[in-house]
Amino acid sequence: MKVRIAPSILSANFARLGEEVREAVAAGVEIIHIDVMDGHFVPNITVGPLVVEALKPLAREMGFVLDVHLMIEHPERYIESFAQAGADWLTVHVEACPHLHRVIQQIRSSGVKAGVTLNPATPLSMLDEILSEVDLVLVMSVNPGFGGQSYIPSSTAKIARLKRTLEERALSHVEIEVDGGIAPATAGEVAKAGATILVAGSAVFNSKASISDNIKALEFAILQGTA
Ligand code: DX5
Ligand code: ZN
Repeated sequence: MKVRIAPSILSANFARLGEEVREAVAAGVEIIHIDVMDGHFVPNITVGPLVVEALKPLAREMGFVLDVHLMIEHPERYIESFAQAGADWLTVHVEACPHLHRVIQQIRSSGVKAGVTLNPATPLSMLDEILSEVDLVLVMSVNPGFGGQSYIPSSTAKIARLKRTLEERALSHVEIEVDGGIAPATAGEVAKAGATILVAGSAVFNSKASISDNIKALEFAILQGTA
């Protein structure tokens, strides 16, 4: 499976969000990652369905996916409104869903692809009974809540173990998305370990270089790491 980059808008300049998303997609990006935080599940508050709705016309015009990462308590209360707003993918935290199987069914029955995610200290075994029901697994390689954090090195082995498990269970169609601390210095090893989607916020939307050049640097690192 081709390794794709999913810029996280958390680090974008919200005063010119549409333009920055447009620039990222013009640079070849097919997925835009939207970090939803409620100030309870994580100690930060960000955006809700309104921003998904605001980006949906651009997503239709340019043909990219709205990949929504729900770092919220009781995500089951909001599946419908994010689906209505135009989310293409909805990913929920295993730690926030006592009735995870029902939430995944709820996401899929609203016509949206279903993802499950786990924090760095949560073992992969928590996903054993749900892997066959999801379209993607999002491996958190930082503690959720903020952009610009450092990649947690033990994530690499976790990604490789997940890849092996998916292969052993004939679930290789499930995307492995990795989220947090992805930069040119880490993208290669993450891709080599088996990630198929790399979320990158501060490595894309920072003032060091243009969005397009930042994306190119990540693509180069992925190529180098998987050569
Ligand atoms: C963190 C979010 C990540 C974050 C990534 O809670 O889930 O998507 O925005 O930001 P960087 O790439 O800067 O670590
Ligand atoms: Zn995220």
